[in-house]
Amino acid sequence: MKKFLDLIADEMKAAFAGCGYEESYAKVVLSNRPDLCEYQCNGAMAAAKAYKKKPIDIASDVVAKLKEQCSVRAAAGETPVFLDEDVNAVMPGFINLRVNSLYLAEYMEGMTQAPKLGLDEIGHGETIIVDYGGANVAKPLHVGHLRSAVIGESIRRMGNFLGYHMVGDVHLGDWGLQMGLIIEELRDRKPELVYFDESYTGEYPTEPPFTISELEDIYPTASKKAKEDECFKERAQTATFKLQNGYAPFTAIWKHIMNVSLADLKRNYGNLDVHFDLWKGESDAEPYIPWLIQDLQDKGLAYESQGALVVDIAEPTDSKELPPCIVRKSDGAALYATSDLGTILEREKDFAPVKYIYITDKRQELHFTQVFRVAKKAGYVKPETPMIHIGFGTMNGKDGKPFKTREGGVMRLEKLIADIDEAVYQRIMENRTVSEEEAKETAKIVGLAALKYGDLSNQASKDYIFDTDRFISFEGNTGPYILYTIVRIKSILNKYKENGGQVTEEGSEKKILPAKGASEKALMLQLSKYNEVIENGFAETAPHKICQYIYELANAFNSFYHDTKILSEEDQAVKDSYIGLITMTRRTLEICIGLLGIEAPERM
Ligand code: ARG
Repeated sequence: MKKFLDLIADEMKAAFAGCGYEESYAKVVLSNRPDLCEYQCNGAMAAAKAYKKKPIDIASDVVAKLKEQCSVRAAAGETPVFLDEDVNAVMPGFINLRVNSLYLAEYMEGMTQAPKLGLDEIGHGETIIVDYGGANVAKPLHVGHLRSAVIGESIRRMGNFLGYHMVGDVHLGDWGLQMGLIIEELRDRKPELVYFDESYTGEYPTEPPFTISELEDIYPTASKKAKEDECFKERAQTATFKLQNGYAPFTAIWKHIMNVSLADLKRNYGNLDVHFDLWKGESDAEPYIPWLIQDLQDKGLAYESQGALVVDIAEPTDSKELPPCIVRKSDGAALYATSDLGTILEREKDFAPVKYIYITDKRQELHFTQVFRVAKKAGYVKPETPMIHIGFGTMNGKDGKPFKTREGGVMRLEKLIADIDEAVYQRIMENRTVSEEEAKETAKIVGLAALKYGDLSNQASKDYIFDTDRFISFEGNTGPYILYTIVRIKSILNKYKENGGQVTEEGSEKKILPAKGASEKALMLQLSKYNEVIENGFAETAPHKICQYIYELANAFNSFYHDTKILSEEDQAVKDSYIGLITMTRRTLEICIGLLGIEAPERM
């Protein structure tokens, strides 16, 4: 469906052109003075210079033309976009507009009838890779991994909804030094294991030599040891090197680490309602690396520098000097960038995506600039294929410092989720209208919404403060407020049905009439922005735009609800129209929270 703002802009363009002015002056924006008008066009001011006329004269010409267009439409039996009294030229040359309520109601009707409420599937099945999650195998998920997972999941859902084929890849850190550290720590703990017996020639056991909780203890111990004990660190490096070169006993241990850890990661991401199409990792890039290194050299891009192999990536337009990308260290080891380049080769082979989106901490910005530039310079990725890095800011505690446990340690994601669920549970139990069991279930849904919305409602690149009390509040720009609004609409609709009213899930059989009151019209205007918001939100990879939109939509609904007796309305046609409108509001809110990775409970 055409975007509502575009329909208005088209009308304005026709009027400018009809008066002999350039169409490009006909830009229409939402009014920043809703008390005066709904939309405005400031193009007459800019046009005045070009045409050497007074802005107000141009505005008046255009307004006259708009009115003429509208009467031509009316005569042809069409609904005019504006009524005469609602288009005005004001000093010094603004054009203020209010939309014809009938025209708006018809647009609402169109939305309820259309699939996906009139959102166009602009993706046409084109493939986009979204790289998010980025957990490191054998390390428990901690709050640092929350943002990538939550933002990535939302972007994946938005893209799919718009008809793209989104391929979400968790891109595990499964090939680095942590593997050697675990292997050597395991040797110290259980030297009798066959993996450490060099004379052993039999099959390796299928049972893992550790449980997940042991594994989670092994890694931090080993990592601490390596910092204090140079010899241990060297052993870990050697073990990593052997693993990366296919040494069978270590490959066997590595597989155990992967299996045990992956099961745990899947459970954790599942609890977050975060999903991946691919569970690939750095190790999958390995087979591509020898060819990559050779190719970069053959193309004359990679050269030796202090024993390492590097590729220059600086460009004359850079505002600061960017260091070359190291693709091989002097000891022959591959690096993070090497594995990302190898992964790109694999993704090009498997998917040839039209776009890449990576979501990590913003401290990795230089890394991605380097990787993207090498990938383009070497021709692995087409010049026109956008490669986007969304670098997010830090999640801070109330003290403004990176979020920590009370003891100052790294907070595990599981703990964070459990804490917020508990806080919501307490709040629900304060009013104690539901059973304990239902309260627990509801708290899980609302807690997750509080957590995700608290994150997503901030522009990704900004740091934000994780504030449980604020996030779980039922008022203000929070997840629970949005859910509460949906639940409120559901409850009105349930009452309507209990009293014999009938309405389908879509509500598309209820004819929506022109708004009678201001808050009703405001609600419709807010609904009319829906397809534009989602398309732009995705184009800008900005879930916070969806949050902003549904916050305003929830507010618009709540004012309408405050002003209107919905169920006791006596005029049946008007009541039907209200039911249609609030059903549509519910659908819009539900679609949007779905895109954020959130769902609503039945009751709260
Ligand atoms: N494992 C990495 C980390 O913990 C994140 C991976 C992000 N994705 C990528 N393709 N580099 O920092």
